[in-house]
Amino acid sequence: MKKIKVVTIVGARPQFIKAATLSSYLKREFNDVIIHTGQHYDKGMSDVFFSQLKIPKPKYNLGIRSSSQGEQVGKMLIGIEKVLMKEKPRLVIVYGDTNSTLAGALAAVKLHIPIAHIEAGLRSFNRSMPEEINRVSVDHISDLLFCPTRTAVLNLKNENIKKGVYLVGDVMYDSICCYLSKAQDKSKILSKMKLARRGYYLLTIHRAENTSDLNRLKEILAYFDKLDLPVIFPIHPRTRKFIANSFKSRGNLVLTLPVSYLDMLMLEQNARAIITDSGGVQKEAYILKVPCFTLRNETEWVETLKYGCNRLIKNDAGGLSFTLRRLDRDLIRFKSNIYGRGNAAEKICAIIKRSISAA
Ligand code: UD1
Ligand code: UDP
Repeated sequence: MKKIKVVTIVGARPQFIKAATLSSYLKREFNDVIIHTGQHYDKGMSDVFFSQLKIPKPKYNLGIRSSSQGEQVGKMLIGIEKVLMKEKPRLVIVYGDTNSTLAGALAAVKLHIPIAHIEAGLRSFNRSMPEEINRVSVDHISDLLFCPTRTAVLNLKNENIKKGVYLVGDVMYDSICCYLSKAQDKSKILSKMKLARRGYYLLTIHRAENTSDLNRLKEILAYFDKLDLPVIFPIHPRTRKFIANSFKSRGNLVLTLPVSYLDMLMLEQNARAIITDSGGVQKEAYILKVPCFTLRNETEWVETLKYGCNRLIKNDAGGLSFTLRRLDRDLIRFKSNIYGRGNAAEKICAIIKRSISAA
């Protein structure tokens, strides 16, 4: 029997990781046509995830790459619309909150194709973030809204979105359940970088609010350079672009290229603490029970803030120095199951199947 066609739209690093487990369920039930917008295109930001996580090769790569917000979304919209008109899927699946998510959902809704939004209902309540605009817009035009947490369900309810909302858990937790033991077996990153368990910090920075002011970025980096242990810093290309010729480590900061997912899991799991402005990395720190410091004024992942597991370090690295000195892992309590039971992808696939059959 011919399988029903759905289209999955991805484009940025975290979306490949989110799609990894769901795509393996989708391909059993559906003809899942994958569109890669090309938003991320460096080998280490894209190809490495497809090969390492065995994500089916996208049928289309639109090669849109980087530009201003409007131009990037506009070009994606034009490219995705053409593919959707040709493929005529029964459903479009989008992930998270990037410009690829927004463009995918807009193209679908204009063609009256139902949308499933994975990681629906997240809010930072900070409209200056492009991601917040993307999340709110996509949630309001989606038909199936798959929420990772209770807070996400509540956020949607507060915006009067109640139909098609499902609390399923987090697909990033599924990915950890699926790949952690493989990472422990296969990754050589710790020995390659001569890192001892709990003997280093892990740092990631890529948000516009931390990168666009070069002086602030240099100030943050100069501070980390002076920490008491090595600070492993896989640099996102956005950040690399800003500091290209204007920062050199003289101390403990170890700058590296972005690493693969399996290497990242190992770096995260064995770090003394993680310092980040990434959404995904905050969650992974929590799931792997590693204390996290978030270089932002707010977070969508509010559950992680309980019991000192994750602390917001607002615009000042001085606050970090204070909290790092007081870091006592034994006082931090990580609750289990706040991101579900590692079966979010399976649940999502079953709900999609039911919903398409009922339509
Ligand atoms: C995007 C998402 C952000 C997400 C992040 C994940 C939006 C608005 N932002 O931010 O929500 O947290 O991805 O990593 O969608 N670049 C390269 N090579 C690449 C990719 C990017 O050199 O493979 C450089 C380009 O110079 C570009 C800059 O990085 O100008 C930013 O890339 P872009 O995709 O626009 O935004 P991100 O900061 O990656
Ligand atoms: N990640 C990775 N290699 C790196 C940095 C991050 O594999 O060098 C993974 C990380 O483990 C998480 C995801 O990328 O699963 C987070 O992506 P990112 O921080 O780019 O975006 P965000 O989650 O903030 O949207």
